[in-house]
Amino acid sequence: MAESMLGLKRTCRCAEVTEDMIGSTVTLMGWTQKRRNLGSLIFVDLRDRSGLMQVLFDETSVGGDGFAKAGTIRNEYVLAVTGIVQKRGGAVNEKLKTGTMELMATELRILSEADTPPFPIEENSQTREELRLKNRTLDLRRPDLQRNMMVKSRVAQLARDFMAQEGFLEIETPMLGKSTPEGARDYLVPSRIYPGRFFALPQSPQLYKQLLMVAGYDRYFQLARCFRDEDLRADRQPEFTQMDMELSFVDTEDVLDVNERLLQYLWKEVLGVELKVPFRRMKWIEAMNRFGSDKPDLRFGMELVDVSEIVKDCEFGVFSGCVKDGGSVRGINVKGQADMPRKKIDALTDFVKGYGLKGLAYIQVKEEGTKCSFQKFMKQEEIDALVDAMGGEKGDLLLFGADKFKLVCETMGALRCDLAGKLGLIEPGKYEFLWVVEFPQFEWSEEEQRFQAMHHPFTMPMEEDLEYLSPDKDLSRIRAKAYDIVLNGAEIGGGSVRIHQADIQEKMFECLGFTKEQAEEQFSFLLNAFRYGVPPHAGLAYGLDRVVMMMLGLDSIRDVIAFPKVKDSSDMMTEAPGEVTEKQLDELGIAIRTQG
Ligand code: AMO
Ligand code: AMP
Repeated sequence: MAESMLGLKRTCRCAEVTEDMIGSTVTLMGWTQKRRNLGSLIFVDLRDRSGLMQVLFDETSVGGDGFAKAGTIRNEYVLAVTGIVQKRGGAVNEKLKTGTMELMATELRILSEADTPPFPIEENSQTREELRLKNRTLDLRRPDLQRNMMVKSRVAQLARDFMAQEGFLEIETPMLGKSTPEGARDYLVPSRIYPGRFFALPQSPQLYKQLLMVAGYDRYFQLARCFRDEDLRADRQPEFTQMDMELSFVDTEDVLDVNERLLQYLWKEVLGVELKVPFRRMKWIEAMNRFGSDKPDLRFGMELVDVSEIVKDCEFGVFSGCVKDGGSVRGINVKGQADMPRKKIDALTDFVKGYGLKGLAYIQVKEEGTKCSFQKFMKQEEIDALVDAMGGEKGDLLLFGADKFKLVCETMGALRCDLAGKLGLIEPGKYEFLWVVEFPQFEWSEEEQRFQAMHHPFTMPMEEDLEYLSPDKDLSRIRAKAYDIVLNGAEIGGGSVRIHQADIQEKMFECLGFTKEQAEEQFSFLLNAFRYGVPPHAGLAYGLDRVVMMMLGLDSIRDVIAFPKVKDSSDMMTEAPGEVTEKQLDELGIAIRTQG
């Protein structure tokens, strides 16, 4: 039977007991990690979010009833224990903060009994994630998830403190608003008052924060929930949190500077790691060329090499044909892997095929000479020239892809990262920050057969490229005043200098294929505000979840979100999304069409 805690007050958390408390009486409350009976003694490991404390029950100190009660304790029972802190009688546990001490119980209350949990509550759980997510409350009791949540809370707090120091105001923006174009699908909320009309949950506070600049708030900051209905990945959730900021009367340099100092502060305070600033910078085109990615991982080398010039006239049609068609041939040098078995190379070929490349060609630079998948199509001098261009030495494996620029770069870039992971080339505990700058303003959408904004339509083009901002000019030449902050190959944040001139904004909408009327209809509130005095402004947003994930070196964003969604965007614990009643639908004027 569950007992009351009436008359008892917790004096501290389990792992907050220190050696200078030896001899004093404390009251701890928490969950039972484990009970062991040793004849006349019972040991219980008591757990709370601070850690563990070993509790010792001995009939002479806790009394006969207390001892009998202690014998009924099972895992996850919630206990209140009063007792005296003493040095451990048995062996010291080096792994525990409280490993030199134990609590000799004088009073025990069982505050709550517990069923046997469906999986053990332990660090580095081997239990499959589906079962853990269904029982997330129990999962969240595990020390690693508790640490992740504590770090996230601390990062949020530190960011708030830093931004306040720098003169940023924390201002909330609406959840129920109009669609903002960040490129994903919106989550819609039907309006009861206006049947047939919908609010959109924000994909980001982008337009509101720009309006706050127009309204004179000068520096804005918010920890903002954002919603994007897109396919999930290991680093993506439909609902996530941005650390969002906007600044007036600034240019790129000012934004990068304040953000370098923010990251420096967070890393120092949370991890005790000193980051060197300024961070490296790389133009988008260089990142694509050298790393096949707009978010290169700089913790290892194995850069992409453009060998198109060398192979453009060779007899191997896959290569020369590709170059003649305007494509590109790119290689990577996998050092010391010349003896990689055929089976493994085939697996790499399957990997690149998954990205849409038609094949993977290779040269093994062996002691006895080169062995090459296109040996019969190339003269030995050509192969040697290729090895040379790749910096190939005896023992190296050279891998090549041939296709259109974007596809081949992205695929070989992905292969580079995959191999680095598999071959253990990534040194743990390294943090390689990078600003990627000068993104293209527009990217061509095959699906929609038109240009789309690569960042968003409010991003300012580089002044020297403004002459191309016209639907009849080559839009692909325009570079944007946009920047991403990349850490260890992940995009943790991004932003841009904004357009503050109404005429440039109008041109931008025109280039994106909006008619004047469409632009007016969707963004009239912005365009109207822009008629009354707009300060030059710029900003940036981090994915808070991603920052914490990368800080802790985790592979999944779900491990830094208390109640995450799974791949199909559902919540395994509450089983949301759920059905609603007829009455609710009637009030909203909504009828469900059954799929036929
Ligand atoms: P962007 O769309 O680049 O920019 O988003 C900023 C950062 O938010 C994080 N992020 C996500 N994290 C988890 N799950 C997702 N689905 C997800 N989508 C994005 C990323 C990303 O770098 N308004 C602009 C910012 C600006 O221009 O100021 C914006 O939202 O870490
Ligand atoms: P095939 O002409 O299909 O017999 O291919 C000959 C060699 O070229 C094989 O090693 C293929 O894996 C490789 N290959 C085919 N297509 C490509 C491509 N697009 N890029 C790189 N290698 C390729």
